[in-house]
Amino acid sequence: MNKPSILVARAVFPQVLDKLAQHFTVTANQADVLWTPAQLIEKLQGQQGAFTTGSERIDAAVLAACPQLKICANMAVGFNNFDVPAMTAAGVLASNTPDVLTETTADFGFALLMATARRMTESEHYLRAGQWTKWSYDMFAGAEVHGSTLGILGMGRIGQGIARRGAHGFGMQVIYHNRSALDAATEADCKARYVSKEELLKTADHLVLVLPYSAQSHHAIGAAELALMKPTATLVNIARGGIVDDAALAQALRQKTIAAAGLDVFEGEPKLHPDLLTVPNVVLTPHIASATLATRLAMANLAADNLIGYFTQGQALTPLNTLAAATP
Ligand code: DGY
Repeated sequence: MNKPSILVARAVFPQVLDKLAQHFTVTANQADVLWTPAQLIEKLQGQQGAFTTGSERIDAAVLAACPQLKICANMAVGFNNFDVPAMTAAGVLASNTPDVLTETTADFGFALLMATARRMTESEHYLRAGQWTKWSYDMFAGAEVHGSTLGILGMGRIGQGIARRGAHGFGMQVIYHNRSALDAATEADCKARYVSKEELLKTADHLVLVLPYSAQSHHAIGAAELALMKPTATLVNIARGGIVDDAALAQALRQKTIAAAGLDVFEGEPKLHPDLLTVPNVVLTPHIASATLATRLAMANLAADNLIGYFTQGQALTPLNTLAAATP
């Protein structure tokens, strides 16, 4: 029997490719070329499955041009690159990689909060530039982390992980806003209190964004929201570009209406709003919140197992949609 054909759209761990090759005829992209949408459609011709990352958009146009496609397995927990309703309508299974990255991403969220509050990259740049000539009492004096108020917008698994770190490790008061409040047991475990978005913005000393990107969360933090924050507050975005209006944020940072920001994701990344590169009070990282080797390997294996599960048993481990007839 012929093996199903799959496209692995970006470079991936060689051992994961080897595992996929046991089950599939694999077209890989180990040169890691970033394809245009038209090139992606061309590469997907004849492929029954796709191993994707956040950089491949699977929408109605791709689905219409690739009628043989049956599953797209995203190596990411976020799936804003998928038009899931269009995939469901086209009978294409969608899957993502939840859980395996939760703690690693929460670690990074907390690291970015610390680096932002304590001005770590700004002070390192100063030192590297040879500007450090003497100690002084207020040099790079930042914001207190322990005992301060941690605000979390989007209280899913990763948000809860950050809340636990703040509450249990740093004695922070944790407040959060979410589409719905957590159950009482989870709130108690996270030592977190549900508040309105307005109270969150006005009260948090450190605000971390961990909500999924959607049309509803586009620019959830813009000029109006930034204006509600304390001038001493910091903002961290490890969620998705587009949740923050980066132009408005750069202006708030320049005018110091908030103290500092830590950003791992950007509108239109890998391009950045140019103003973000000119303000000193921002820590910038290139979308690496889940990037430990162990976690990225776990994510790649889960995406691969979703493809294997679908084609061998008719079901993915972590599907995002339910199909009328999910038969490979
Ligand atoms: C995720 O898993 O969604 C991360 O942002 C990596 O894309």
